[in-house]
Amino acid sequence: MIFNQLSIYNPNLIKKIMDSVKILRNIFFSHSPFRLVHDLSYECNCKCRICERWKKSSNLNDQLNTKEIFKMLEDAKKTGIIYYVVEGGEPLLSKDLPLILKYAKKLNLKTTVITNGFCLKERYQEIHPFIDSLVVSLDSNDVLHDEMRRLKGIRDRAIEGIKLFRNSKTKIVINSVLCKLNVEKIDGLIKLSKDLEIPIIFQPMDIYKGYNEDIRLTQPEIKKTFLKIFKMKKDGYNIGNSFYYLQYIIENKPYVCNAPKCYTYVEPNGNIVSCCDIFNKIWGNVKQKQFKEIFGSREFKDFCKKMENCNYCSVYAVIESSLLYSLNPRYFFGNIFH
Ligand SMILES: C[S@@+](CC[C@H](N)C(=O)[O-])C[C@H]1O[C@@H](n2cnc3c(N)ncnc32)[C@H](O)[C@@H]1O
Ligand code: SF4
Ligand code: SF4
Repeated sequence: MIFNQLSIYNPNLIKKIMDSVKILRNIFFSHSPFRLVHDLSYECNCKCRICERWKKSSNLNDQLNTKEIFKMLEDAKKTGIIYYVVEGGEPLLSKDLPLILKYAKKLNLKTTVITNGFCLKERYQEIHPFIDSLVVSLDSNDVLHDEMRRLKGIRDRAIEGIKLFRNSKTKIVINSVLCKLNVEKIDGLIKLSKDLEIPIIFQPMDIYKGYNEDIRLTQPEIKKTFLKIFKMKKDGYNIGNSFYYLQYIIENKPYVCNAPKCYTYVEPNGNIVSCCDIFNKIWGNVKQKQFKEIFGSREFKDFCKKMENCNYCSVYAVIESSLLYSLNPRYFFGNIFH
């Protein structure tokens, strides 16, 4: 398999190798995160059962303006950020999203947009040239999705948007968050991914205390569900999670959390944060501080060290990035040749 990929000119493989080299540079030399996740705004058109961000106030006067975002991106690039991930709230509600993505591309950052998909169709023309990866959230391939997101028609609109994006160069993936409400909907979601010919990623819902604990899957439920997903991946379905991630989830294995070393979050008001939504460790604000100051500080290094045993999160991004950072050769090279 690996040799097959090496034997032909494969631009995707070359890109993956180049990205891995950049990540290694960050791990060994700059010792700073390589992914910037930016919550453009908490404004949202959904009121999801799994997520409480829609409840957060979105004071437009308090948000970074587009000029300040450009400045933040320049600073991020200088510090060694490779990936710029835009989410929220719902990022497609932001008028200046195309300008922001265009600027990030000009700086040669790799762009990802995570969206609920409701406005994909309307915004396709202005944004598609500037998005490397598009993550569309879909938690059920039927009306339950609309019910869980409390927005009528969102499933159909997200799928229409995905179909349109398949005409572009953007890589698309479906992200499904599993909880007690949709755990029986996996087959339908996998069928959708097959019909659309795009991969699907599954992850258990993380708890936002005081909000969604009642619908979190128990560990035995997680084990049963992810064993099924593991088997379907083995059977050749286009499931984007690595086998490593699925094993960690199934066995509830402890992992060394390297996520704060890989990711930095910026909130709508410019606050630079680690462990967003969970501990929300605030380091300062992009209007006053440069990333380098923070990532180079003793306090940041001590925090990252202290959090290695945390293990609170079970979402894909945290565990996958932790595995990548640990440079386990089987995982690292598996990730390139996956
Ligand atoms: C916070 S949303 C923001 C982007 C956009 N509004 C959306 O829904 O895709 C980013 C991703 O987090 C997922 N998510 C929301 N609540 C979650 C939770 N409690 N645990 C794990 N993932 C969650 C969403 O489904 C989505 O794929
Ligand atoms: S998951 Fe996305 S769409 Fe749903 S409330 Fe949170 S931010 Fe909004
Ligand atoms: S597991 Fe803990 S340290 Fe790691 S990202 Fe989650 S909250 Fe942060």
